[in-house]
Amino acid sequence: MAFPNQQATAYNDTVVRQFAIMTVVWGVVGMLVGVIIAAQLAWPELNFGIPWLSYGRLRPLHTNAVIFAFGGCGLFASAYYVVQRTCHVRIFSDKLAAFTFWGWQLVILAAALSLPMGYTSGKEYAELEWPIDILITLVWVSFAVVFFGTVGTRKVKHIYVANWFFGAFIIAVAILHLVNSAAIPAGLMKSYSAYAGVQDAMVQWWYGHNAVGFFLTAGFLGMMYYFIPKQAERPVYSYRLSIVHFWALIFTYMWAGPHHLHYTALPDWTQSVGMVFSLILLAPSWGGMINGIMTLSGAWHKLRDDPILRFLIVSLSFYGMSTFEGPMMSIKTVNALSHYTDWTVGHVHSGALGWVGLVTMGSMYYLIPRLFGRKEMYSVKAIELHFWTATIGIVIYIAAMWIAGVMQGLMWRAINPDGTLTYTFVESVKATYPFYVLRLLGGLLYLGGMLIMLWNTLMTVTAGRANTVAIPAAAHA
Ligand code: HEM
Ligand code: HEM
Repeated sequence: MAFPNQQATAYNDTVVRQFAIMTVVWGVVGMLVGVIIAAQLAWPELNFGIPWLSYGRLRPLHTNAVIFAFGGCGLFASAYYVVQRTCHVRIFSDKLAAFTFWGWQLVILAAALSLPMGYTSGKEYAELEWPIDILITLVWVSFAVVFFGTVGTRKVKHIYVANWFFGAFIIAVAILHLVNSAAIPAGLMKSYSAYAGVQDAMVQWWYGHNAVGFFLTAGFLGMMYYFIPKQAERPVYSYRLSIVHFWALIFTYMWAGPHHLHYTALPDWTQSVGMVFSLILLAPSWGGMINGIMTLSGAWHKLRDDPILRFLIVSLSFYGMSTFEGPMMSIKTVNALSHYTDWTVGHVHSGALGWVGLVTMGSMYYLIPRLFGRKEMYSVKAIELHFWTATIGIVIYIAAMWIAGVMQGLMWRAINPDGTLTYTFVESVKATYPFYVLRLLGGLLYLGGMLIMLWNTLMTVTAGRANTVAIPAAAHA
């Protein structure tokens, strides 16, 4: 696609455009699957007895689609856009960048086929079988070469902080993927983990937690540090704090994984180390959140009529909320109540819908019109509507899960004077039913917002085509 403007000749925006569009498309797909499994939890017969549609197969399809397809494409798009702008240089290799786009789409396609077919390594967030893992490795190494090649050939001395976060995200995810996916193949689509027993569990949750820390956090903080100052037209509140934020966050995250394995066969001291580092993690997380929100100081009024800024700032509020909740849940006595309940699912989605979802949507709303030669999205009113449907959807979703989770935890531990359990498990399932229906409603609203975004994006892209020649290059700065 050629969009004649000055920037397009200097920067490679083709790959950014491709990833940005696919972010929206995979967002709709991944959330639709989320809505389907939410409905199945309320009405299990919705799998219609078809193995492909069974909950156990669709659930990993949902998590892979929203994290790696929606979140991943958003991260590729913004990393490529930001690194070129902040390094004042065209992307390192157009060919390799194109390979990352097509390779990543192939990974997603392979996941979309193999997971419903029942192929899985059984490791959460790393379910894909070994041939797909090898493809992921190739794409990721290429991503690293393109990103660091661009940083290495930069025309400015300084490396802007957003690139530090993107860089840490790329390196950490490479290491996590390589270590956790180590397996012995036992057929084309079957393998056994290279680790056994509790070591396997520890490696898995070292991976799982750092997938949260680096895939779902560090990369999106890179977005935050570029798009909030841009949209607010103010410098980062404290650049010094952003550097402290960076080092403190990446150092601390690595040690917190054992909080996923409280009260298991993992040695007790390891669980306590995980808990302590999770509590420490509150400080850098909130430092980053405050730095992002305070970037608006002196420009708070912009929140009133700029829905894109609202997406970005409210995402930080949810980031603050989930990074307060997480450390609390890592305290062993609290985890004794929350673990295995829907409280965890509420926590996940306050981070996933509130932080990851909203910051991605805000960043894409900033990017898409610029990438397609328009001053703004086709409909600003539609962005506003999206913001409210998404926010109300999140609140309904997480409130329902919090209530359900605490209720389940309390019901499971309730004991009669004679020592027998007060409730059977199935009584807790029955009591959860209305909350599952409520969660579905929240999910439908959130998905509805995403569909509005898809429509708005299509209108912007097609209208942008007619417009491109007339748009002055300055509009793309
Ligand atoms: C329309 C929006 C969404 C709906 C309705 C939805 C629904 C669900 C449901 C029903 C589950 C299974 C919970 C269980 O097993 O009890 C789930 C799990 C999960 N979802 Fe979503 N989801 C949505 C969006 C997202 C997004 C945008 C992300 C990430 C960016 C996400 C990340 C996850 C993760 C990580 C899990 C696994 C949680 C765990 O293992 O505790 N979801 N989702
Ligand atoms: C300071 C930051 C955070 C800490 C200390 C933390 C801590 C925790 C704890 C203790 C659990 C429950 C483990 C269990 O009982 O099984 C958990 C689960 C989870 N958290 Fe967080 N959390 C943090 C931030 C976040 C954020 C920002 C996100 C999302 C963007 C997130 C995503 C998840 C996911 C996906 C799980 C579920 C994992 C699973 O069982 O499948 N967390 N977290």
